[in-house]
Amino acid sequence: MLKPNTNYKNLKDSYLFFRISQKVNNYLESHKGDKVYRLGIGDVSLPLCDEVIKALHEAVDDQANKATFHGYMPECGADFFKKAVAGYYDQRGIKLSEDEVFVSSGASDELGDILDLFDKSDSVLVIEPAYPAYVDANIMVGRQIIHLSSGKENGFLPLPDDNQKADLIYICSPNNPTGAVYDKKSLKMWVDWANKNKAVILFDAAYEAFIEDEALPHSIFEIEGARTCAIEICSLSKTAGFTGTRCGYTVIPKELEREGMNFNNMWVRNRTTKTNGVSYILQKGAAAVFTEKGQEQIKKNIQVYKQNAKCLMQALDKLGIWYCGGKNAPYIWLKCPDNMSSWEFFDYLLEKAQIVGTPGEGFGSCGEGYFRFSTFGSVEDTEEAAKRLVELFSKK
Ligand code: MLT
Repeated sequence: MLKPNTNYKNLKDSYLFFRISQKVNNYLESHKGDKVYRLGIGDVSLPLCDEVIKALHEAVDDQANKATFHGYMPECGADFFKKAVAGYYDQRGIKLSEDEVFVSSGASDELGDILDLFDKSDSVLVIEPAYPAYVDANIMVGRQIIHLSSGKENGFLPLPDDNQKADLIYICSPNNPTGAVYDKKSLKMWVDWANKNKAVILFDAAYEAFIEDEALPHSIFEIEGARTCAIEICSLSKTAGFTGTRCGYTVIPKELEREGMNFNNMWVRNRTTKTNGVSYILQKGAAAVFTEKGQEQIKKNIQVYKQNAKCLMQALDKLGIWYCGGKNAPYIWLKCPDNMSSWEFFDYLLEKAQIVGTPGEGFGSCGEGYFRFSTFGSVEDTEEAAKRLVELFSKK
């Protein structure tokens, strides 16, 4: 008799962002004509940059001609794409061979898929508050999850200690949702801990392009020893506006082995079996992000989001609301005013000011009492939301 995967019974009823969009839809249903100001899910509002659009158009035309047409693409990525990514790392002094780079359809897909490389009995350490897909993807497999809470007292950047045991650990830096970023010294402590414990770090670098402080690491491979303990997962979603276009990349060093098994070889085996690669057209568009002009253009877009962050931070400063993030990351993490719980504050903001944010509790229980604003909304919406926030709390 067929048995469904009963691990699904251990998941919350619905995924965080799905629950939020349902709540917003219900609100709009009962408040016809209202406009909401979306600072919730980190979805970009600016279009793809010109270089990417040009490359996408050219790639479409290539597919119209016998001489330039492409059928199946190499499962692990086109050479031109892997070369572009390796070149990007090289600018920061990180030497990768092209076959250490794998194309993906984006970080969220990859963060779940990569779990195929590990045994179900491996334990996983999740630093919370955390992107909820880390926890959900592991619950679906039935893996033991160790929740490591962080808070204001450690700047939401906990450090390893010798008593902490786990086989896998997620590190997201710059962090979603808190915007906190590990410096090289602290990241080195995690790398040393992982090597010592034979653990593997799944390093989520989706927000690296938002780092402003020169000294902060963009990649875990800036840290000595990371090649024997880390996999880096990155995405063009936030870097270059690919949330709806979908493309990312994963780096698995050749040295990464456990019990005589090589994770790079295993991932080649996995991808060649489970995917037919990412389309030629998308990889052409994605490779354009790494050209000189592409980099200039995406940086201009990132500056627009950074301006949004400034506008929201000014509003919070005016109101004396505690927050962190916003500088080296596109998220602002704030303490809910008046001791409201995360979901109370969500409902209050939606009802009174039509602002949508993300309740901190959705990122783990230690996120209770906190709230996240995304800075990816349109400039007009962000300015209006900041104004409404100030009006709402100045009245109180
Ligand atoms: C977020 O809002 O946390 C992200 O946009 C979600 C994602 O990248 O899937």
